[in-house]
Formats: sequence, structure tokens, C-alpha cells
Amino acid sequence: MSVLEGKKIVLIITGGIAAYKTASLVRLFMKRGCEVQVIMTPKAHNFITPLTLSTLSKKPVYTQFFEGNTGEWNNHVDLALHADYLVVAPATSNTLSKMASAEADNLALATYLSAKNTVFFAPAMDLDMYKNPYNQENIKKLQQKGDILIPPNKGELASGLEGEGRMAEPEEILDFIENYIRKELIFYKKKLLITAGPTYEPIDPVRFIGNHSSGKMGFEIAKAAEKLGAEVTLVSGPTCQKLSHYSSIKRIDVMSSEEMYQKVTEHYQSTDIVIMAAAVADYRPETVSKTKIKKNEESFSLPLLKNKDILLELGKTKSNQFLVGFALETNNEEENALTKLNKKNLNMIVLNSLQDKGAGFSYDTNKITILDNKGGIEYFDLQTKEKVAENILKSIHERIKT
Ligand code: CTP
Repeated sequence: MSVLEGKKIVLIITGGIAAYKTASLVRLFMKRGCEVQVIMTPKAHNFITPLTLSTLSKKPVYTQFFEGNTGEWNNHVDLALHADYLVVAPATSNTLSKMASAEADNLALATYLSAKNTVFFAPAMDLDMYKNPYNQENIKKLQQKGDILIPPNKGELASGLEGEGRMAEPEEILDFIENYIRKELIFYKKKLLITAGPTYEPIDPVRFIGNHSSGKMGFEIAKAAEKLGAEVTLVSGPTCQKLSHYSSIKRIDVMSSEEMYQKVTEHYQSTDIVIMAAAVADYRPETVSKTKIKKNEESFSLPLLKNKDILLELGKTKSNQFLVGFALETNNEEENALTKLNKKNLNMIVLNSLQDKGAGFSYDTNKITILDNKGGIEYFDLQTKEKVAENILKSIHERIKT
């Protein structure tokens, strides 16, 4: 999933020939799932029509402070504050200069000056204009303020000359912005290993011992972690959960506890954070019948063997990994969770109580308490599993930072 999914972009288009390329830029933003509000300077209309841009962005395009026919005010402050990111492309010499000296003689500039969020600007001008010390000074000023320069390319310019000043191509602008945002994410480049779902312990070719885990909690954590920039490996027991749109998550499907153990240990050494959200079966049948067991006897008992405790094993060989376990409890909840935290050498444990309404296997909601190995404890209200996943990751981040 793109880091731009769901983001609100204000695209400011100024009057340079490269403005014709912004039709593609709008399309690329839209394809990434952004909401795009185009604002044009009056001169940009000479290079591309508002109709093209409003058709592509599915929104009216603004240029004036007041709409001529209705007299409606286009509130530049609202426009600026509503956006997650402002993108000025192309940024002409004229607009750069006005941005750097806080002039507000059109809606685009007034919106820029009202913005509190990150502004990207992609200059476009002739090579000597770009090199001009006043332009370079303006660019520096904007960078000092915190605006982000999307450097122009070298190549053939509208004047026929060759040199630096061509606006970056729309795909390059998109890549640049996505990379920038990704690097700012709290789990950028962190390797997360997450387990989810139940395990099935085979009895015979048609039967197994399992549990009611839906896998939803682990999947939500994996998705939230990807959104926060992590490189996620998700080892999942049998579940109907899907990861559509999260193509960078490496999903490994397993069946039994032993298979989960194998896959988890394979990835453990290169992992920064492990979150064991899976409901691993504690026991497996001692033998697995090759043929279907017939119901010949009046009573039937099945000898069981204890499975490896995956988390306990990880805790024994922990080096720099941050280990997170789950504890599903019905009584003496905090005490039992703390015992597990210590016994398994964990950094943090997420406690669910089956006594809490709306928490547990079959719900879309969960109510958690987080305990850590430094004596910290955090209580959370009942929330969607999506929100719970975000909170768990935030809690991990807080503890890793300190
Ligand atoms: N866990 C594990 N391997 C197992 C059993 C559990 O890695 N064989 C992990 C779970 O994924 C969870 C944590 O250990 O993160 C605690 O699981 P839980 O079932 O609550 O506790 P158990 O240690 O199995 O203890 P008990 O069932 O006796 O409460």
C-alpha cells in the first residue's frame, strides 16, 4: 500500500510550460488513493485548463479568492490546514520568489503561506534562471523554513537550451514524495516478525485440534506496521484474513505449531521486533493417523504431547530483539500476564481478558492492557482491532526510543 493512500494533497500549479505535466501528476496522486485539491495561479491557465485538472481530480479547481458567479470565498486557511501535504509543481521563479518573501497576491500563495504541514516544491525554469543567485537564495530560504526541494532534472529545456531546470517528471515527483514520507515513518526499515491466527494440530487426514482465533488482531498489526514503514514478515496459521493492497508484507502460511516454530526461528535473528499474536496450540496428538480414524469404540482418548513454546524459545536466545507476547486470560489477569512476561523474557505483553465484553477471538473490537518489563502498565478502552493495532505499535515505539 502506498504511504500516500488516503492523504489529502493540495497541488499548487504555477504558470510555467511544465504545468502541462501536472495532468499526469494528478492522475498518479489519484491512483495512489489521494484526495487532490488543485489550486492554480492565474498564469497557469495559459498552460493547462482547469477543466482537465478538475476532471482528473474530481473536484473544482480554485484560482481566485472569490468565485466570480457565486461570490463564494475560497478560504485559503482552510485549504492549507485541511491538507496533509502541499506540493508546488511547477514552481516558477516568480512564485518561488514570492513564497520566499511572503507575498500573497493570489490564492495559491495565500494558501502556501497558511500551510503548517510539509510543503514540497518542484522548480521549473530555464538553466540560467535556475542558477541565478537570487533564485538559489530563495530556494535556500524555503529549505531553511522546512520546505522540501524536489530537484529539477538536467536536459532539454523549453528554450531549446540544455541544462538544469526541467521539472522532475511526474513519476519522479511521486517517488520522491513517497520516499520522503516513508523515511519519516516511525518504523522505517525496522524488521517486524508478526504471528497470527490459530495453529491446527492434525489428528488424522481430516481432523485437527484448533482454536477460535480469527487471526484478525495479528493481521491488523501487520497492516498497521507496514503503514508505519516496517518491513513485515507475517507468519500465519489457517485463517481467511486477507492482505489485499499490502503487497510488501511477506506472508508465510503455516498449519501446525511446529511449522510456525520453524518459520519464526528461521527469521528471528534478522528481526528487530517480534509480536506473537498467534494463538498457538499448547498440545498436539502424540501420533497422527495416516488414515481416517473410525468411530468403532464407545469412548476414545487421544494422548497429547506438549508443543514447544515458541515465545519461550525466542526469549532464551534473545539478543537485541524487542519481544512482544499476548496473554489471553480469564482470571488473575495482570498477575498471570506478568508471570508470562518474566518467564518468557519479554519486553512487553498485551493482555486481553475474556471477562471484557467485546474482547477476544470473534470480535472486531478488543480491550487491552499493556505491561512491560520495566514495571510500566497502560490501560486502553474497548476499540476496533485496527485502532488497538496502532496503539500496540505506538507503545512499542515509545519503549524502543527510551
Ligand atoms: N505462545 C507461543 N507458543 C506456544 C504457546 C503460546 O509462542 N506454544 C505465545 C503466544 O503466541 C502468546 C504467548 O505465548 O504470545 C502467551 O500465550 P498464552 O496461550 O496466553 O499463554 P501460554 O504461555 O500458552 O500459557 P497458558 O495457556 O497456560 O495460559
